[in-house]
Amino acid sequence: MSPIYIGPRKLAVGVTALIPAAGSGSRMGAATPKQFLPLAGVPVLVHTLRIFAQEPRIDDIILATSPEQMDFTWDLVRAHGITKVTRIVAGGAERQSSVAAALAACTARPRIMVVHDAARPLLHPDGLAEMLDRAATVPAQIMAVPVKDTIKIVRDGMVADTPAREALWAAQTPQVFHVNLLDAAYAAAAAEEFTGTDCASLVERLGVPVAVFMGSPENLKLTTPEDFAVAEAMLAHRAGGLNALGAET
Ligand code: CTP
Ligand code: MG
Repeated sequence: MSPIYIGPRKLAVGVTALIPAAGSGSRMGAATPKQFLPLAGVPVLVHTLRIFAQEPRIDDIILATSPEQMDFTWDLVRAHGITKVTRIVAGGAERQSSVAAALAACTARPRIMVVHDAARPLLHPDGLAEMLDRAATVPAQIMAVPVKDTIKIVRDGMVADTPAREALWAAQTPQVFHVNLLDAAYAAAAAEEFTGTDCASLVERLGVPVAVFMGSPENLKLTTPEDFAVAEAMLAHRAGGLNALGAET
């Protein structure tokens, strides 16, 4: 692989963020997709976009939304002054097809791609920065956290197996890839009609090692209504004053 490393805080190739935001939020059960719901008064998607807008090494952001939300999303992006968003593309029925559409909209090569869920607005900027520090030398990496619960394999309402917890991690985003790898992974998945729930699973199928970067449980994916209460408590905690239990810190 050609050298693209020129220093710990600088990359010699451009970096694009791909943000899938085309989901319907079925588990949230709200009339509006969760990425557009307010979190501490600001739409979830805007929280997420600000993290990428504020990282100097991110050159541009490509969003995938449902076709009906594209105009609305452009208005939202402009209203909040997120000038790094260069394209909004129509996503697909699965997260994978939404990411594929965003990837196809980026024509610059070589490139480093950072894929991040719109529904993870609490990513800490330091985690993103550290992954970008490594991106020059690590072609594929994901943020993940060790699982806290004991995980059961369940079939027909009965426990079928209990895998050893030590080896189990929950994958998050960001997931960061050299674009040639991501292109190859998406092409192979399309050819083989494979659908995965994250980008790394497509890259793994190429036999390419994927590095794990220790994330934080704070980087939660807003999925069900109670996640909003947890996220608002964490934002209040970060803003200072109160911890997640409401006590002064
Ligand atoms: N996503 C997407 N296109 C889809 C499905 C999901 O861009 N067809 C995005 C979501 O908008 C979200 C991220 O992928 O930012 C993670 O997906 P998830 O949390 O599953 O969101 P939803 O699919 O919207 O929620 P649900 O599965 O509960 O319907
Ligand atoms: Mg989903």
